[in-house]
Amino acid sequence: MDDIDSGANVDIIDKFSHPYPVTIIADLLGLPRDDYDQFLTWSKAATELSLTGDEKAIESNKRRRARVQREMREYFSNLISERATGSGDDLITLAAMNDGLTHEEKISFCLTLLIAGNVTTVNLITNALWCFEENDLFDAVRTGAVSRTKVIEEVLRYRSPAQTVRRVTTKPVELGGRRIDAGELVLARVGSANRDPARFDSPEEFRPERSPNPHIAFGGGIHFCLGAQLARLEADIALEKLLDRFEVINPDLSDLSPQTFLYGVKSFPCRLETGN
Ligand code: HEM
Repeated sequence: MDDIDSGANVDIIDKFSHPYPVTIIADLLGLPRDDYDQFLTWSKAATELSLTGDEKAIESNKRRRARVQREMREYFSNLISERATGSGDDLITLAAMNDGLTHEEKISFCLTLLIAGNVTTVNLITNALWCFEENDLFDAVRTGAVSRTKVIEEVLRYRSPAQTVRRVTTKPVELGGRRIDAGELVLARVGSANRDPARFDSPEEFRPERSPNPHIAFGGGIHFCLGAQLARLEADIALEKLLDRFEVINPDLSDLSPQTFLYGVKSFPCRLETGN
């Protein structure tokens, strides 16, 4: 962020919302600094899921994702083997030294952190800026007139970065008057639950300090998001730093193209000005 000049027009995702959480995960995993750019490229590619376009586009996207997955697996596999007798306290070393996990499970652990923890957090930060612009909230959040902690919860509810969770039924169930057989894939719409009028007053309204705010943007039950507190903290610090550094944050909302699977936009053009 320090390299952004006052008056610059930038894609805030490219310059800020994406590199920031990826760098944090890379640090926690203990990746060599020289590999950060590669890691950033993989993170982008691994989470690009094009469900639109013609069959050819979808097929080529699938092939690209499969190739990226292979490259990342090989990369983590090597690091895990190298660190099996290590003494570091990074997550790769801790996974490598865990006798309860197979080599494949250790690789999956690293991949899960990379994929589950990045685009969701990128989207939370960017969706917050989107909501601030729509509701004219930049000054109120900057001065503390609106609580950052509360407004982040409302962004999580109103523009939930993870819209859907998947489950497979283990036995027949009846839900909303419909029978679902055992072994069926069920897509539970988190984003829809977060706008349920039975749970929220005026759910279509963005209320910056909504309270109570019992959203389920991080899921629930046994699979509740492992990184929820990290994501909240990352968003809190990111927004504080960005709003402190730039007195004017002027997003151009005219041509956003929201992606619905992981809800957010691909780029977020902004003009930024410091106070000086
Ligand atoms: C705004 C950011 C985030 C959102 C909206 C989010 C959302 C979710 C949701 C909805 C689930 C539940 C999935 C299910 O029930 O099938 C989940 C699970 C998970 N999340 Fe997150 N997540 C975020 C950030 C992170 C971060 C930063 C990490 C790690 C560094 C992370 C790691 C995980 C893991 C490992 C699981 C699987 C937990 C399990 O199955 O036991 N997430 N997340």
